[in-house]
Amino acid sequence: MKLFTIFGNPINHSKSPRMYNKCFKYYGLNDYCYTRTLLENGEDIIKTFKKLKISGASVTVPHKEWAYKLADEVRGIAKEIKAVNCLVLEGDKVIGYNTDAPGFMESISEFDYQSVLIIGAGGTAKALSLMMDADILNRSENRLKDFKNHKTFTWDTFEIKQYDLIINTTSAGLNDDNLPARQEILEELFKNAKYVVDVIYHETPFQKLSKKYNLKIKDGSDMLVYQGVLQFEKFVDFEIDKKEVAKFMKSVL
Ligand SMILES: NC(=O)c1ccc[n+]([C@@H]2O[C@H](COP(=O)([O-])OP(=O)(O)OC[C@H]3O[C@@H](n4cnc5c(N)ncnc54)[C@H](OP(=O)(O)O)[C@@H]3O)[C@@H](O)[C@H]2O)c1
Repeated sequence: MKLFTIFGNPINHSKSPRMYNKCFKYYGLNDYCYTRTLLENGEDIIKTFKKLKISGASVTVPHKEWAYKLADEVRGIAKEIKAVNCLVLEGDKVIGYNTDAPGFMESISEFDYQSVLIIGAGGTAKALSLMMDADILNRSENRLKDFKNHKTFTWDTFEIKQYDLIINTTSAGLNDDNLPARQEILEELFKNAKYVVDVIYHETPFQKLSKKYNLKIKDGSDMLVYQGVLQFEKFVDFEIDKKEVAKFMKSVL
């Protein structure tokens, strides 16, 4: 039996066990089992992983930074993001990865774009900016100093130009009716764009506004699914049909 789990707090709501178990079954991995583990103290994450003899784990809020600090080894983009959302046992070592930003890239793999504008300058924007050459637009100045390799603007300094892909990474619209930038800025951008992506799962005022234009629109659910698809690939350690696994995971969400 190979045991997998998701560490988080709270964790009761997590649909990950259904998502991963369905995919294990599809691949005939009948001795693989994925559960939930409520972890109160992030400092215990690797100790608990080893004690429970787990083969692989997903890590969610609020433990991603602890997983990054305590994994025996961290690989790939996780080193730059400084957060780990996937732990895999290799020999006697627990290896940490981050599949959030690569999952986002996978979720837009069919898009054909040259120029990108990321709206927002928080943790999600930072992770995505490591994967793409994008300009950054944020409401306020302070967090923009973290984007040394990008052109950055506040709402007041922004000069409108054409971008193929516009990504909202702010929490505007998550629990309110706010837009992530002034409406007139967004409408000008939408006029000349091809794609709009929002990292929020439900329909936001940003997505609603973009519907007035002839754009391809994606919400955050594909990003969530594809970070899971990439974790699944690490857990099983063979090449998978990503689109097929994504379809299964989506059917659970
Ligand atoms: N789909 C997925 O799998 C996925 C994964 C991760 C996160 N998310 C979502 O991503 C969003 C951001 O998360 P995060 O961790 O990056 O947040 P964060 O680090 O707290 O950053 C929030 C950003 O949003 C901006 N902001 C907040 N309210 C705003 C408003 N009313 N108008 C304009 N800008 C506003 C902030 O601007 P200031 O700097 O001016 O404060 C900041 O740039 C959340 O909604 C989260 O649920 C989705």
